[in-house]
Amino acid sequence: MAHYKLSSILALVFTSTVSYASSSHYSGSVIQWGACDPSVVNDTSLSCGFLEVPLDYQDSSVGHARLAVIKANATGERQGSLFLNPGGPGGSGLGTLAANKALLLALTGGVYDVVSWDPRGVGNLTTPGEIFCFDSLAEYTSFFNGTIELTGIEETGNFTDPADVQALLTQAPTVQKKYEELGQRCLNSPNGKYLKYVGTAAAVRDMVSIANVLDGPDAPINFIGLSYGTLIGSWFVNMFPERVGRVILDGVVDPIAFATQEPALTFLGQRASTDTVYKALITGCALAGPSGCAAAAKGDGPLDVDAKFQLLLKAAHDAAKANASVPLTSGDIRVQLYGQMFTPAGWSSFLNEGYPQLVQIVNGEAPANASQALSRRFKGLVRRDPLLKRRSESNDSPSYTGAAIYCADSVDLRGTTMEDVFKGIVSTTRNVSHIFGSVWPTDFYRCSFWPARSVERYQGPFNKTLANKILIASNIFDPATPLPGAQTVAGLLGEDAVLVEQNGFGHTTIAASSACMNGVFFAYLTTGTLPANGTVCEVDADFELFSGVNTADILAHLPSADV
Ligand SMILES: *[C@@H]1O[C@H](CO)[C@@H](O)[C@H](O)[C@H]1NC(C)=O
Ligand SMILES: *[C@@H]1O[C@H](CO)[C@@H](O)[C@H](O)[C@H]1NC(C)=O
Ligand SMILES: *[C@@H]1O[C@H](CO)[C@@H](O)[C@H](O)[C@H]1NC(C)=O
Ligand SMILES: *[C@@H]1O[C@H](CO)[C@@H](O)[C@H](O)[C@H]1NC(C)=O
Ligand SMILES: *[C@@H]1O[C@H](CO)[C@@H](O)[C@H](O)[C@H]1NC(C)=O
Ligand SMILES: *[C@@H]1O[C@H](CO)[C@@H](O)[C@H](O)[C@H]1NC(C)=O
Ligand SMILES: *[C@@H]1O[C@H](CO)[C@@H](O)[C@H](O)[C@H]1NC(C)=O
Ligand SMILES: *[C@@H]1O[C@H](CO)[C@@H](O)[C@H](O)[C@H]1NC(C)=O
Ligand SMILES: *[C@@H]1O[C@H](CO)[C@@H](O)[C@H](O)[C@H]1NC(C)=O
Ligand SMILES: *[C@@H]1O[C@H](CO)[C@@H](O)[C@H](O)[C@H]1NC(C)=O
Repeated sequence: MAHYKLSSILALVFTSTVSYASSSHYSGSVIQWGACDPSVVNDTSLSCGFLEVPLDYQDSSVGHARLAVIKANATGERQGSLFLNPGGPGGSGLGTLAANKALLLALTGGVYDVVSWDPRGVGNLTTPGEIFCFDSLAEYTSFFNGTIELTGIEETGNFTDPADVQALLTQAPTVQKKYEELGQRCLNSPNGKYLKYVGTAAAVRDMVSIANVLDGPDAPINFIGLSYGTLIGSWFVNMFPERVGRVILDGVVDPIAFATQEPALTFLGQRASTDTVYKALITGCALAGPSGCAAAAKGDGPLDVDAKFQLLLKAAHDAAKANASVPLTSGDIRVQLYGQMFTPAGWSSFLNEGYPQLVQIVNGEAPANASQALSRRFKGLVRRDPLLKRRSESNDSPSYTGAAIYCADSVDLRGTTMEDVFKGIVSTTRNVSHIFGSVWPTDFYRCSFWPARSVERYQGPFNKTLANKILIASNIFDPATPLPGAQTVAGLLGEDAVLVEQNGFGHTTIAASSACMNGVFFAYLTTGTLPANGTVCEVDADFELFSGVNTADILAHLPSADV
């Protein structure tokens, strides 16, 4: 959330017209606020506490979960609490709120206590905490040795070479067996007994429990959900329609698709706009020219820049075919490039600092540890780099919290095989996203083999009548949650939702700065006022993606040709 420009928000006049129910009559348990654990949150202006909740809301005999909760006190006339979930799934509410406190207080006019929590399966303060299925990184690496889990998928063009398709399909039985064994390892891990108690329905009920304690059992619940957090939002507004206060869903997951299809398949559909975002990157680079973008030569158009990326991917692909232990595979580069699609604000530094190093590494002109160093700078480059894995003191192996949440929520196992998943990847690469169809791994692909489902999943209806109108926000070109998800949710909620689109690129509207969108958020959160349905906000002209190149420039020059 770091890319907002705040001046426009702060310039708006603070108004307050709504006051919420008092909590004085509620006598449930309390949250004892105190200093935050300094190993997790250092900001002494924030308060932290814990709330015990039932592990299973339908069966109190199962015991309790303990949620780590964080709060930034309102700075103005308090209207209640505003809850935040940063997505992931598996994102830390504590870390996100701490990192964005100033922004959140500004965006909300200071009229709310901004509250978040580490959901079940997240971090080391909430119980159950982070889910690890290996004792160490070494154990993980040796378990997946020789599979695409460590190297990514090798292909070029759009799986143009049938040998690449064949090589992938040949791995299907091995990778499936590994994922099934992984599931058993997760079940047998220290947090394995909790796998059926993590998930989105539990997160919704946990948020309601926290709200009941803070604001009372009848008070409206205000919520901002980003990305996966929009699934919490969709489930919340339909599970507790009478509790809906001011709710913003930004970067929207289609809840119907999620309730009816396997994540491996819905995820492939979520690539609908990803190549367009890639086109924006190469277009911005070409417009900036060599002085603003190291991947552009004088006179290059977008397709010339694309050709360089395709050459780089091809060279990495061919090198890996010749020697399987190259430091950087084409799959690694694709994963890195995919990550870049989320945050246009980082494009210039990626293309000017990251890209030249990628070229050097692939050409064998860089020291052996160069790819690790680059990973640290541009997170996510080499999945084998232990520094990239979310860790605790005690475990340097990868976290499976994201998979645990998404898979616990997802539809029952349907006998889908890894070969089915791989075929989906090939056809998505050919039909939907040439550049990113083959990104591997993702948490979503694990769900067809995941051993647990949550004790409660909300699968609809998604068209309830809500106590208050909510705001649905989406970039027009979002690489992870394409616009149709937002349109679907808005369509289902009818008069109870307003859709506002932002005419730009990146994952969630906060990936780019827009005074217009900031104003929409601010007006809604402080006064409840919403613009007309279908309002389109432009990205700020001074939000440059490359030196001298803004979103409008790129939109005006996007190539229509396939990349
Ligand atoms: C909890 O995790 C943080 C990193 O997120 C780490 O700095 C801290 O030491 C951990 N605390 C414990 C008690 O494991
Ligand atoms: C907080 O500050 C201490 C001391 O400077 C440092 O050791 C710790 O890593 C910091 N924690 C976080 C979460 O930034
Ligand atoms: C925030 O409010 C709580 C009361 O809810 C209070 O105990 C705490 O001291 C306040 N924190 C700050 C930093 O003012
Ligand atoms: C991976 O397998 C290769 C042989 O297939 C072996 O030489 C290597 O030591 C293994 N690496 C690990 C980390 O187990
Ligand atoms: C393969 O690459 C590794 C790591 O870069 C290197 O150590 C090894 O010598 C290479 N093998 C061959 C046959 O070139
Ligand atoms: C890479 O290795 C060299 C020599 O082995 C070392 O001097 C350098 O610090 C390393 N760089 C990084 C970023 O780890
Ligand atoms: C995708 O492309 C494949 C050929 O690669 C074709 O057989 C398949 O029908 C296409 N699927 C869709 C949904 O268009
Ligand atoms: C593969 O992509 C190219 C553009 O790079 C396109 O022309 C071609 O139709 C695609 N092939 C398939 C099978 O989709
Ligand atoms: C809500 O959706 C259900 C299907 O899930 C449908 O049967 C029902 O008619 C819808 N209700 C309204 C008010 O549109
Ligand atoms: C708002 O716009 C969306 C998307 O165009 C549409 O699905 C929805 O029905 C509209 N809502 C209203 C109340 O017109």
